[in-house]
Amino acid sequence: MPYISRQRLRCLALAIAAALAAAPATKAGAAAASARPPIPHIVQKNGKFALMVDGAPYLILGGQANNSSNYVDVLPSVWPAIRDLKANTLAMPVAWEQIEPEEGRFDFKWVDQLIAQARQHNIRLCLLWFGTWKNTNPNYAPPWVKLDNQRFPRLIKKDGKTSNALSPHAKTTLDADIAAYSALMRHLKQVDGQRHTVILMQPENESGVFGSARDYSPAANALFAQPVPQALLNRLNKQPGTWEQVFGADADEFFHAWSIASYIEQVAAAGKAIYPLPTYLNAAPRDPDPKKKSVPGLFYGSGGPTWNVIDIYKVAAPHIDFLSPDMYMAESDIYEAQLKHYRRPDNALYIAESGNKDVYARYIFTVLGQGGIGFDPFGFDYTGYSNYPLGAKDWGPEAVKPFSRVYALFAPMAREWARLSFESEVYGVSEPDDHSPQEIDLGPAWGAKVSYRQWEMGEAYWLRKKDDLPKGSDVPSGGVALAKLGPNEFLVTGQNARLTFSVNRNVKDRAAIFERVEEGRYVNGKWVMSRVWNGDQTDYGLNFTNRPVILKVKLGAYIF
Ligand code: DGJ
Repeated sequence: MPYISRQRLRCLALAIAAALAAAPATKAGAAAASARPPIPHIVQKNGKFALMVDGAPYLILGGQANNSSNYVDVLPSVWPAIRDLKANTLAMPVAWEQIEPEEGRFDFKWVDQLIAQARQHNIRLCLLWFGTWKNTNPNYAPPWVKLDNQRFPRLIKKDGKTSNALSPHAKTTLDADIAAYSALMRHLKQVDGQRHTVILMQPENESGVFGSARDYSPAANALFAQPVPQALLNRLNKQPGTWEQVFGADADEFFHAWSIASYIEQVAAAGKAIYPLPTYLNAAPRDPDPKKKSVPGLFYGSGGPTWNVIDIYKVAAPHIDFLSPDMYMAESDIYEAQLKHYRRPDNALYIAESGNKDVYARYIFTVLGQGGIGFDPFGFDYTGYSNYPLGAKDWGPEAVKPFSRVYALFAPMAREWARLSFESEVYGVSEPDDHSPQEIDLGPAWGAKVSYRQWEMGEAYWLRKKDDLPKGSDVPSGGVALAKLGPNEFLVTGQNARLTFSVNRNVKDRAAIFERVEEGRYVNGKWVMSRVWNGDQTDYGLNFTNRPVILKVKLGAYIF
């Protein structure tokens, strides 16, 4: 019998008493309680985030259908694309006009069918509430809203003209939106509260206004002349004053951001009070370079959750879990700069939308390698509608392939990746437009270099002709992602890239070697090795091609 101290015995007794007090009274009650998966939610630890689904971190490998694919008759053209994409989550609109065609009469046939079919296809859902704002306009609001300017006023521009966007200052509009969104959340709780097929909500879509910096209606002007709310002053460390006094040239935009954020906060809070699913907002982004001239309302929708007003949204909308950029600027430096703005200790990184041209697919490595909780390319279904020139020219299976190739790497280990991303360290890079190599700092012991347009067996300088490059490598498609498994061990995947390891640059007397490189896969959460890479497969770095490969790499060093 092992020795147990008195103090330890007392702790054990207290723990048993607490467990008994918390336990359901009957065996059936206990079984039901343990079988019920907790509602999806966001957790945060040391600046890292996870979307918990069924009690464990979940990686969103998403796909968003085209806007008008939100009808039951169209779903047969959606699922094949989502399957080909190897996505695990479909982002799909639920439009106000669909669920409340007449005031107070709700119709959830669409929602029910969508959920039922998603379950059949084993796909989770992110629902996009197209309400007061859809790409800043109210086109998805039912006619009884968008055509009644008296009851649901539009925003007034500086020149006195009326914008198409609705004013965020009308209580009638806010109440009507809250009523509709609340009805949706009530219904979701009823039909999906146990299964959690729907894991994420996006109330409104790309809010903001074009053609004006803010609402200049008398109601808005009166608020604009008021002092800036204290909570915002505290956050930004500013002295009291009116919006103009505190924010000068930015006052109109910041005021409008505050107005919209406060409006959506009330919609989201009402929804969460009924059924608290994780909730985020998407932004039609502004240029990430603060030095570039970027006029709100002209170059981008003013008042939406663009990077320059993230703090305003954080203060005004605490029921929003995170803010997310819609990525339609394909240039690698712009893409990376935008990510930097949204990856913050107080904001989970998630790509709500990304253009569906092939060049965007490689950014999945960067986003997931930076701890992103998911990625969601826009415009994937087989309805015959191309996204060109914004996205891909093709709309069929060929358009899906660049993304499905990368998803194929993460899909079999999505849960493991999400857990490592939250609990350990992850890293990721994607090929820059100029194809130049990149360095990755892997912590105190190791470093890595990623290079592109390499053949598998040999060095680039061996080539007689410098333009003897792998076929198709003029279009950047490469990327690498790593997750730390232990001090010297990494889970690695990639595509069209060469990865070499080194000791950390501060370690002077050692050189890195591979202790062991295993190719394998996760089966039911367990690593299963298929072969060991050595010799020609490791002498020129680890070369990733288009073949789906996952490696477990153990590093060692010798002293020289
Ligand atoms: C961003 C919007 O959020 C989407 O609904 C869609 O309109 C895309 N732009 C493509 O235009």
